[in-house]
Amino acid sequence: MTCRIRKMNPQDLPEVMELLERWSMAPTPGVANAERSGIEIAHAFVAENEDGCLVGVGSYLLLDEDTAETASLAVAPQVQGMGIGAMLQEARLQEMLARGIRRVRTETDRPETIAWYQRKFGYRVVGSNPKKHAFSLPDIDTWTVLELDLEQWSRARGKR
Ligand SMILES: CC(C)(COP(=O)(O)OP(=O)(O)OC[C@H]1O[C@@H](n2cnc3c(N)ncnc32)[C@H](O)[C@@H]1OP(=O)(O)O)[C@@H](O)C(=O)NCCC(=O)NCCS
Repeated sequence: MTCRIRKMNPQDLPEVMELLERWSMAPTPGVANAERSGIEIAHAFVAENEDGCLVGVGSYLLLDEDTAETASLAVAPQVQGMGIGAMLQEARLQEMLARGIRRVRTETDRPETIAWYQRKFGYRVVGSNPKKHAFSLPDIDTWTVLELDLEQWSRARGKR
């Protein structure tokens, strides 16, 4: 399957929300203290297949001038393991780097996703955080906090 990675636009929102809902990761607009209350469209990428359907999304939030947090990365279950998640992650990391971001923070709860971030991108685990409410996996109530040194990632990538 070929698919292209492009910036998200406002018309993509319903399809993106559906995709995130597949993993119980859809933002809950208007809810105070939600894990995610929205998606920053200007900082989001989508993966679109040949039929024009969205099969992946990945975004980030700017925390301060040199730190960002990744958000809302999800690939449609039927196309997992085909490199789409890695392409979305690559696109957002490249954009963060170009903006001058140096440190990337990621919170996740799925053991296979934690391993994916460490193995493919060089993240390290720096701690954990309680979840604010049921989000993503229902039986895990903490986030594993991971960090990535973006310049180090970029240098390692250049050598590959
Ligand atoms: C994590 C996720 C974004 C990865 O995207 P993907 O397109 O499935 O992964 P890729 O094809 O880029 O990478 C495949 C690699 O991940 C591994 N992998 C991890 N979880 C996998 C899964 N559930 N299915 C298939 N491969 C998986 C494979 O072993 C493969 O390793 P390799 O490249 O060394 O062969 C995607 O599986 C997903 O949406 N997961 C559920 C939601 C989630 O955890 N989102 C992240 C929140 S922080």
